Amino acid sequence: MGRVIILNGSPRAPRSNSKRYAEIFSENPKTEYHNIARTNHLTLCDRLADFSDLLIVFPLYADGIPVTLLNFLKTLEQNPPPEKPVVSVLINCGFLEYRQNDVAVDMIKLFCKQNGYRFGSVLKIGSGEAILDSPFKFLVARKIRKLRASILSANYRELHVTMPLPTRTFVRASTSYWTEYGKKNGVTKEQMSTMDIEKEIEK
Ligand SMILES: Cc1cc2nc3c(=O)[nH]c(=O)nc-3n(C[C@H](O)[C@H](O)[C@H](O)COP(=O)(O)O)c2cc1C
Repeated sequence: MGRVIILNGSPRAPRSNSKRYAEIFSENPKTEYHNIARTNHLTLCDRLADFSDLLIVFPLYADGIPVTLLNFLKTLEQNPPPEKPVVSVLINCGFLEYRQNDVAVDMIKLFCKQNGYRFGSVLKIGSGEAILDSPFKFLVARKIRKLRASILSANYRELHVTMPLPTRTFVRASTSYWTEYGKKNGVTKEQMSTMDIEKEIEK
């Protein structure tokens, strides 16, 4: 059985959903966990040498991989470990459909192909912002345990999970959640629908 290092590529890694997913995976003691930060790329590249498996945990950002992870992969490209671990992926996205993650997973597969890493298992999570605090948490926990078993046994596979809800119900619930969230922070639904949302909103 191999040893697994988990790298969290979320731009908000310390308080991310990715971290919560990684914690479920890490119930097994054979793991080491790190957030990817701007300043630790080379340290992480060095750590990889001690592990048979790398699990990258990250969110979908604009249908792709977040820049935090992209920048780390650029460093890894220049600083590969002597023995390359098998690369697996645990990705979550906000939308209900787990297939939204397909392109981002393909980006990691391409990185592996171009840099001589074997691609291992993948778990694609839909409704990733919501499922952990819903009655369906057990579904995602079960899939994460399956992901872990597949990596530890080197029996790599592709898995997916999402909340078993009709799209309309999910969209209605998430719209009211985010509208309420905006209200608490003094932002209206109309303001959230503009491209200016990341600029300071004049009150
Ligand atoms: C800038 C940004 C872009 C996002 N883009 C997408 C997207 O294209 N599709 C999607 O389904 N979710 C998208 N999301 C939602 C995140 O994937 C989702 O909230 C996820 O749970 C965040 O995970 P984290 O807490 O580990 O960072 C986006 C979120 C942000 C902040």
